[in-house]
Amino acid sequence: MKLIFLGPPGAGKGTQAERVIERLGVPQISTGELLRRAMKEGTETGVKARGYIESGALVPDEIVLDLVAERLAQPDCQNGYLLDGFPRTLNQAEALERVAQMDAVVNIQVPDEVIVKRLSGRRVCAACGHTTHVDLAPDGVCPKCGKPLTQRKDDDASAVANRLVVYAKQTQPLIEYYEKKGLLLSVDGCQEMNAVTEEILARLQELGR
Ligand code: AP5
Repeated sequence: MKLIFLGPPGAGKGTQAERVIERLGVPQISTGELLRRAMKEGTETGVKARGYIESGALVPDEIVLDLVAERLAQPDCQNGYLLDGFPRTLNQAEALERVAQMDAVVNIQVPDEVIVKRLSGRRVCAACGHTTHVDLAPDGVCPKCGKPLTQRKDDDASAVANRLVVYAKQTQPLIEYYEKKGLLLSVDGCQEMNAVTEEILARLQELGR
């Protein structure tokens, strides 16, 4: 199965992807994670991407497309994958369509005021990569592996405001793009996490995908 998770920053794409891949048995490919790893490792891609990411802008298409092409060529992608945060521009969507046919695009809908609350409290484990929220881990310790939690630089208020503007302008048009192709499944991302997961899985099952 080949899936895309679409939605504004903080909609819960990563949270839901982590859960859904366990049930579907396909790898999660998060372009945000690939870029953050490149930054951490200090690769040429990472150096080029840093300024864009930290200000909340999109990384140029050519950088992201190279990164995705390299990842999709790996053997674990042979039987499908879940794309989390890609594509994010019409140009990226068209490039993807030239190399792969998607089965469904899950659009996780969450209003801006909820996003701001979620992102200001988001915490990420530097050791295992698990994403959580201060409300769920008030002691600052990862509930999965017990290591300290950190905050993403692009979760500061000005970067979040910019990410919302960028999403509306560059990524939101993909909703109509995939709707016209009959691939879009919209789910209410404001529900409790388990309810969102169950709705996504039920909608995929209904489609027989
Ligand atoms: P990326 O890492 O993809 O960030 P994003 O799309 O902005 O999405 P987030 O990771 O912020 O949020 P999410 O939807 O995964 O939510 P999460 O599950 O964490 O990209 C970062 C940057 O990299 C971009 O700004 C750009 O610069 C660059 N980039 C990446 N891909 C690119 C591309 N294709 N092209 C160009 N540039 C690219 O949840 C958020 C919080 O909410 C968490 O604390 C979580 O615990 C909580 N939460 C989740 N679900 C619920 C729920 N149902 N109820 C209550 N709380 C919830």
